[in-house]
Amino acid sequence: MDAQGRRAIVVGNSDGVGLALTRQLVAAGWTVAGLSRSASALAAPGYAHHVADVTGDAYRRVLAGVVDRLGGVDVCVYAAGVGELFDVGDLAAQTRALEVNLIGAARTVEVVVPAMVAGGGGHLVGLSSLADVAPSTQAPGYAASKAGLTSYLLGLRGALRPHGVRVTVVRFGFVDTKMAQSPVKPMLLSAERAADVVRDCLRTGPAVVSRPRRMAVLARAAGVAATVAARR
Ligand SMILES: NC(=O)c1ccc[n+]([C@@H]2O[C@H](COP(=O)([O-])OP(=O)(O)OC[C@H]3O[C@@H](n4cnc5c(N)ncnc54)[C@H](OP(=O)(O)O)[C@@H]3O)[C@@H](O)[C@H]2O)c1
Repeated sequence: MDAQGRRAIVVGNSDGVGLALTRQLVAAGWTVAGLSRSASALAAPGYAHHVADVTGDAYRRVLAGVVDRLGGVDVCVYAAGVGELFDVGDLAAQTRALEVNLIGAARTVEVVVPAMVAGGGGHLVGLSSLADVAPSTQAPGYAASKAGLTSYLLGLRGALRPHGVRVTVVRFGFVDTKMAQSPVKPMLLSAERAADVVRDCLRTGPAVVSRPRRMAVLARAAGVAATVAARR
């Protein structure tokens, strides 16, 4: 994709995959706006950062202002996410995972999709997870948020096709960021490699991309076992 004049919004890009992707897009000549709760370490021509919490009342207004300043949006990547381990004394943490990972994405769609439709098209990409296949006892809110996100985006893909908006779900295994808290992280991807995967999607526009592929096969099998166990 020719980056000349292309405008992207990356939500959740102070760190991790969102930051790596933002760096790559800016280096490739895109005009990029980013949003996260923290300020950004990135200062570069063609890049503007906006502090916002996707769960906050002001979020939709801030995001709409970002779209206006860009003069429209060609690509929006929803990379915001939190992974909260289960603690029976803090069930609000599970709710937070649902609010950030799923409801935050839905609120983003409310703002960016009408702008894409008005501008003649666009591409929405959501970072989901291989954890979307099954219930999790370690992080039930996270797994549910990713199952919901994958399902929502795949539904939107067909619904928005007649309106010229492409939708892609990217499902990662372990990526080397602060989110990956597990002591064991098989087939770990670097944040830069994960960002490469997202950039490939911007070129090809697939429905779903799962990486690493071999881990996706294992996750599906483990997911079947976890679903059977959860129904006991
Ligand atoms: N790392 C993995 O192993 C892995 C695996 C599969 C899928 N994923 C998914 O990939 C995406 C990116 O994760 P990552 O690994 O890059 O994690 P990360 O390094 O922790 O980055 C998460 C980003 O989300 C932002 N964020 C969190 N809560 C937010 C909120 N309420 N409002 C606005 N921004 C918020 C964070 O910025 P602030 O804290 O500044 O707000 C940060 O920039 C997530 O959706 C994650 O679920 C990651």
